[in-house]
Amino acid sequence: MAISIGERPARLAAILFIGALLYLAFLGRHLDLSIALNFPDRMKATIEQMTGASKANSSSITTQSGLAKDAHKFPTADLFLPHFAAVTQLQGMTMMKAKSGCSWPAMNEVNFQYSKETEWALKDRNDTELAFRRDEWHDYINHQLLPYAQYQDRFQGRGIVICAGNQKSLTRVRVILRALKKLGSQMAIELHYWGDEMSKESQDEISSLWPKMFFNDLSASTNILQSSHDNFFHINYQLKTAAVINSRFAEPLLLDSDNIPVVDPESLYETAVYKEYGTLFWPDIARTRPNNPMWAITNTECRMDEYEQESGQLLVDKRRFFYHLQLAAWFNNNHGDYYNDFLLGDKDMFRFAWHALKTKYGFPAKWLTSVGTLSNGFYCGHTFAQHHPDGNVAFLHGGLVKTLSKEVITWQRESHGGIFQVYKRSESDEQPLVNVNVTIVWDPASYMPNRPDNIAVALCTEFSEVVPRPLDELVPGFQKTFEDLGGYWMIES
Ligand SMILES: *[C@@H]1O[C@H](CO)[C@@H](O)[C@H](O)[C@H]1NC(C)=O
Ligand SMILES: *[C@@H]1O[C@H](CO)[C@@H](O)[C@H](O)[C@H]1NC(C)=O
Ligand SMILES: *[C@@H]1O[C@H](CO)[C@@H](O)[C@H](O)[C@H]1NC(C)=O
Repeated sequence: MAISIGERPARLAAILFIGALLYLAFLGRHLDLSIALNFPDRMKATIEQMTGASKANSSSITTQSGLAKDAHKFPTADLFLPHFAAVTQLQGMTMMKAKSGCSWPAMNEVNFQYSKETEWALKDRNDTELAFRRDEWHDYINHQLLPYAQYQDRFQGRGIVICAGNQKSLTRVRVILRALKKLGSQMAIELHYWGDEMSKESQDEISSLWPKMFFNDLSASTNILQSSHDNFFHINYQLKTAAVINSRFAEPLLLDSDNIPVVDPESLYETAVYKEYGTLFWPDIARTRPNNPMWAITNTECRMDEYEQESGQLLVDKRRFFYHLQLAAWFNNNHGDYYNDFLLGDKDMFRFAWHALKTKYGFPAKWLTSVGTLSNGFYCGHTFAQHHPDGNVAFLHGGLVKTLSKEVITWQRESHGGIFQVYKRSESDEQPLVNVNVTIVWDPASYMPNRPDNIAVALCTEFSEVVPRPLDELVPGFQKTFEDLGGYWMIES
């Protein structure tokens, strides 16, 4: 939710209050506080395949029917068009067939994104509805894609794309800039905002901090893809898919403003997996239910080896996937009211656009690691460590840090040197078929001495079977680094 500068305090308070209510409603609706999880084995096979595999030409990729087996190897967007035509000719999948791909013996031990009480989870959507929705995106793919040739001159080079307009997100961007500088990164950055959300003064100030800083107003009519913005009732996820498409970069790395790189992100572009797939998608903690309508709508059998997508970081080559991105944005923008019943915001729109278009995506072999605090034996995971394909931690995405109260952060900083104390990493983090017991738990901070009565309760990820280890083992010195980066702005203001 964007709060612009200079808002009067009463309005601000009202917005924060409503924001808190919406946030709770949102969590209630979207988080299944049930159980367990895990991720990547097929990566090993993939990497083995890859090391021998050079980029194939289109005639060696395409099969007779026009459907390509290794579509992800097409070097340019337009080579996909015959493949898309074949994709839209495939026989439609029924709900029963889509569900048959996943047969977890104990469904209540799997951590699904949506609760089993969700309307579509209780009662399967019928095949007529699924076929109608499938035809709808087929029609979009066959008749409405913006041609790559018309836009290719607008894209150039590599760079980081961040959606950031309001003061809070700009403060987070400054933390990212300090992190990149410390890593010796010189990557170009483009900030995407909405309308009058970002003043000229803010732009000048942030430009003075970075050698190559660009801005894009997503509300401007010059954008390739128009998006909508609803300040009050929605978290504006659709802006992320729009930002990727509208970005000036040919190879954008989409980054959330609360995501701190701990290696130079430019190294991601040099990995074998990115070179092969032209994408890097990162995993979330939850899985997609077998009867989620999206499987059948995209003609994809449910996958037990796949987590949902966490789009706090995402790398894509638009020269190859310009059309895939349009489908992701179409699910998200044009039909968000329908799809947001079973997909959470932008994050899985990318994954399912790739599934719909029968194209494999690239991802790191390691599933995420939880990072957080340990207080009198209570673990609170507030951050995801997401991995580089080389196995090291690449990003610390503090998705739940915003749920920690100022009192707890202050106390942790004073008595434990900060909030980046320990990590929990599953032993099976490279075995996607294994379910790790992952839950989201409430943290009432009962461990805190002289705890104020009205303290906000935080949300934490918990891997109950994993023993916490010092974070210094994975990201040495990050307690101090976070301090040096100005990470504690939220308790200093
Ligand atoms: C593409 O690959 C096929 C099969 O590997 C080969 O016969 C053909 O000559 C190649 N075409 C080009 C333009 O490299
Ligand atoms: C299928 O579901 C739709 C709602 O999405 C409903 O309008 C329709 O009547 C259902 N059809 C059948 C055959 O149950
Ligand atoms: C998973 O862990 C939670 C505690 O976080 C526990 O309540 C639950 O019983 C565990 N589930 C399984 C299947 O072990």
